[in-house]
Amino acid sequence: MKLLITGANGQLGQALIAACDAQKISYIATTSADFDICLLDNISDQLALYRPDIIVNTAAYTAVDKAETEVSKAFLINEIGAKNLATACKQLDIPLIHISTDYVFAGDATTPYLPSAGCDPKTVYGASKLAGERAIAEVLPAHLIIRTAWLYSEYANNFAKTILRLANERDSISVVADQIGCPTYAPDLAEVILAVTAKILETKCQHYGVYHYTGAEIMSWYEFAKRIMAVRAQHLAKTTQVIAINSDQYPTAAKRPIYSVLDCQSLWYDFALEPIVTPLDIAIARLLPS
Ligand SMILES: NC(=O)c1ccc[n+]([C@@H]2O[C@H](COP(=O)([O-])OP(=O)(O)OC[C@H]3O[C@@H](n4cnc5c(N)ncnc54)[C@H](OP(=O)(O)O)[C@@H]3O)[C@@H](O)[C@H]2O)c1
Repeated sequence: MKLLITGANGQLGQALIAACDAQKISYIATTSADFDICLLDNISDQLALYRPDIIVNTAAYTAVDKAETEVSKAFLINEIGAKNLATACKQLDIPLIHISTDYVFAGDATTPYLPSAGCDPKTVYGASKLAGERAIAEVLPAHLIIRTAWLYSEYANNFAKTILRLANERDSISVVADQIGCPTYAPDLAEVILAVTAKILETKCQHYGVYHYTGAEIMSWYEFAKRIMAVRAQHLAKTTQVIAINSDQYPTAAKRPIYSVLDCQSLWYDFALEPIVTPLDIAIARLLPS
């Protein structure tokens, strides 16, 4: 099989490339410089040339706070860009796997969000990602939307890497304790995408629509930071204090969801897969300097 990956310089894009390399899967890695998803004619021409079996769209506008003021840019990339990909895929009969986010939900639930739960984004980023989901569903029946949350990995910028950097610079770090979610190791999501791709292409599996994938452990950002520090202490014998604070002590332009737990069961069931989740402490250890 041959994948075309968008957003190849991003966190998930890099994890996906590493997973393809490890599994010896052919891919075409594209970036915003050579495959701008906002340019429909250009991407249609390139897809006609490359003829991939499937496209995985990891490209997105992901600056959650900046999106509050860069509204048109967020919608251009996350809605129009997604729609362009779906349109080009439809013309060439190529299925599309698109990545979305927990931010499509209000974040005020008390039990895990099912893929069918009502969406009510509270941020521009969330609204633009939801608009992208809806644009794809309208244009292309052969689409799979995988919503995820709290990605971390050895690639690009993410919370876990920031905590490790700050731990080297400070004696203590303050982290919000009233936002709950599931840290998700980006290489695990990459494995999931490849497993699902194989099912779609090899078995003509027709389970299109919206699915959820996150790590298995539910915790606050504060608890995640404590786990990162515990693994660091175990491997590097260094300690840094983590202090719990509330969201109102760390104001941001975009209000973060308080509850971001996603129910992932339908993914494993519909695609007949065993859950793919690297234990948190093992994944964190991979981020430490060797
Ligand atoms: N990170 C998380 O915690 C998280 C949580 C939930 C969902 N998600 C979703 O997961 C997906 C992957 O996220 P990520 O963390 O890997 O994001 P990321 O590191 O910010 O990467 C996004 C990539 O998209 C590219 N891009 C931006 N505009 C583009 C355009 N017009 N055409 C082509 N490429 C473009 C960017 O390239 P340039 O740098 O060249 O602009 C960047 O490399 C996104 O859909 C995101 O919404 C992420």
